[in-house]
Amino acid sequence: MSKWTEIEKKYYMPTFQRMPVVLVRGQGARVWDDNGREYLDFVGGLAVNSLGHCHPVVAQALAEQGKTLTQTSNLFYSVPQLQLAELLVKNSCFEKVFFTNSGGEANEGAVKLARRYGKLHQDGAYEVITTFDSFHGRTLAMTAATGQKKFQEPYTPMPSGFVNVEANSIEAIKKATTKQTCAVMLEPIQAEGGVNIPSEDYLKKVREWCDLNGILLILDEVQTGMGRLGALFGYQLYGIEPDIITLAKGMGGGVPIGAFLCNKKADGFKAGEHGSTFGGNPLVCAVAYAVSKYIIEYDVADNVQRTGTHLGACLAELKAKHGFIADVRGRGLLWAVEFKKDMAESVMLGCIEKGLLVNKLKPNAIRLIPPLVITKKDADEAVGILGEVLARQTG
Ligand SMILES: Cc1ncc(COP(=O)(O)O)c(C=O)c1O
Repeated sequence: MSKWTEIEKKYYMPTFQRMPVVLVRGQGARVWDDNGREYLDFVGGLAVNSLGHCHPVVAQALAEQGKTLTQTSNLFYSVPQLQLAELLVKNSCFEKVFFTNSGGEANEGAVKLARRYGKLHQDGAYEVITTFDSFHGRTLAMTAATGQKKFQEPYTPMPSGFVNVEANSIEAIKKATTKQTCAVMLEPIQAEGGVNIPSEDYLKKVREWCDLNGILLILDEVQTGMGRLGALFGYQLYGIEPDIITLAKGMGGGVPIGAFLCNKKADGFKAGEHGSTFGGNPLVCAVAYAVSKYIIEYDVADNVQRTGTHLGACLAELKAKHGFIADVRGRGLLWAVEFKKDMAESVMLGCIEKGLLVNKLKPNAIRLIPPLVITKKDADEAVGILGEVLARQTG
């Protein structure tokens, strides 16, 4: 064990179940630990390192903006922020954007915007319907939005204004809708909650229901956005347009940035009604602009589609081989392998031993969320290692 594990134990709040690896360097889809061991990284900073580690585009934008201007506050105009805003709006169905420091904060902003809409157009409606097994962040309000008891129970009572209902059920949303409802908030695919794929027409039905009732549809694309599913935004794959979308993770390629974007209907903030000291500062926006421009110009989503389809097919072969695999599911480069037993920890540790990083999603499931620029060869290597590890499991 490295001395850093001891230092962590002594000084860091024990909120994370860390993997037994101290990472010190990264390049592309590879990372190295403090003993110089190399790993193929299929965690990717938890779906953040969209262009891989230390991509030249990221390194150059960081260095150049770091020497130019890093923080201005939002009391002034700043060029990288406005360039990024223009790029995102021009490549989406939205009209306006606000930048935050994280995904959770983007969702907070989206909910505030929906409540604003409720006040302005729905007689003060303020409730947001979300689903069980969703994940929307760790702030207190987003813990209430996140439909998972294990995250809520240590902090009850939860802030009011959120109703958690069954996922992938339009009937559940209909039943929960009242005069107080201002929005429905969903992930296109529940990522942290299990990589749960909804039925093909679910989002369309939710969109129709929201329109019928004059309520907003917020899509949390913090994990699924910026190419992860094989399209720039997940909503494009489901033939709908949300009123508000939230982004974070992959859009900064490693720097902490989030955003919420809205259409004309939801655009309700006036000066002073929302804010952030760091949100959208020149440093992170210069990097996120370079990353987002690269993702769009080089059609990274197309690579995701091709390598993702290949990865999915290889994982399906593993499932056919091992009776203890209950399910393989995903889209683009967001995949879960679910086991019939709680063996994810042992599989994850086995992969580490053989030089592959995967994420333990649940006691019985692992998740693969590699950089969006991986090659088929990287996918083959990962599946090869995973296959060797699974072959040693007793099931
Ligand atoms: C869908 C979704 N929303 C929100 C969040 C929270 O983002 P952050 O950790 O940046 O606050 C996450 C993080 O995993 C997420 O997957």
